[in-house]
Amino acid sequence: MGVMDGKRGLVVGIANDHSYAYFIAQSLIAHGAECLYTHLPGDRMKRRCSKAITQLGIENPWLESMDCASDEELDRVFDKIKTDYGSIDFLVHSIAFAEREWLGFDMFQETPREAYKQAIDISAYTYLAMGRRAARIMNNGGSMIAMSYLGAVRAVPGYNVMGVAKAALESTTRYLAMDLGAKGIRVNSISGGPLRTMSALAVGGLSELLELVESRAPLKRSVTGDDVGKSAVYLLSDMASGVTGQILYVDCGYSAMGI
Ligand SMILES: NC(=O)c1ccc[n+]([C@@H]2O[C@H](COP(=O)([O-])OP(=O)(O)OC[C@H]3O[C@@H](n4cnc5c(N)ncnc54)[C@H](O)[C@@H]3O)[C@@H](O)[C@H]2O)c1
Repeated sequence: MGVMDGKRGLVVGIANDHSYAYFIAQSLIAHGAECLYTHLPGDRMKRRCSKAITQLGIENPWLESMDCASDEELDRVFDKIKTDYGSIDFLVHSIAFAEREWLGFDMFQETPREAYKQAIDISAYTYLAMGRRAARIMNNGGSMIAMSYLGAVRAVPGYNVMGVAKAALESTTRYLAMDLGAKGIRVNSISGGPLRTMSALAVGGLSELLELVESRAPLKRSVTGDDVGKSAVYLLSDMASGVTGQILYVDCGYSAMGI
């Protein structure tokens, strides 16, 4: 028997089999959940996402195109889930975007207004936009998570405007938890350690960061996708029934260190 038996939910953010969302879906499936998926618009994005879902052992998945920058797209996808299934039990928000140009060392000070607004829109506002729509079709006891990073609360060279967006995401987590708690819905985020994914490669100095984590983190290693996947199952399952509005650090303890 799995802790996610009988639970169904939407997983947003599988770009390929390196994505955090891929590992989260893998753990959810292993614990009995049924996952629905979206990919960014375009044939190439669809192919990559479909390939990763096949690697999860899923044939004929529920898979829709969705650009979270568009309210119409969000409405279409959540309406379709309602039509096809009636309700869901969980939501995984594992997406972020900032223009690569502003993620270099010493580039934060140069961030233009539009790049700043876009980073916050795609990486933080979308949790509120998706969370609100998900809550309308969520069963009592529903749960949602988003993915954050330590750069939300500390200045990490190269993370720059994405750190500002993650601070907004973490605050969004708490305010959304406040509003949705009365419906019995829990809202949390995971602050994951650095993992070699497509998005992470856009941030300057990833290899150095991984080396630093391996030498300083209490567990003397960097985090794996599986570490985060298992913690996601905890937060999305009834095992975390009293946990909401929280940021759970899954980073091999790196954030606990003073130096
Ligand atoms: N990899 C890391 O080191 C790390 C660490 C902590 C947190 N995170 C966070 O984890 C989450 C997933 O990132 P990842 O590292 O797995 O990288 P990834 O590149 O595999 O995933 C990012 C996803 O964001 C999606 N996306 C971007 N813009 C979108 C839009 N407008 N609409 C819909 N989807 C959009 C992409 O399609 C992709 O699937 C992000 O929030 C990221 O900031 C990553």
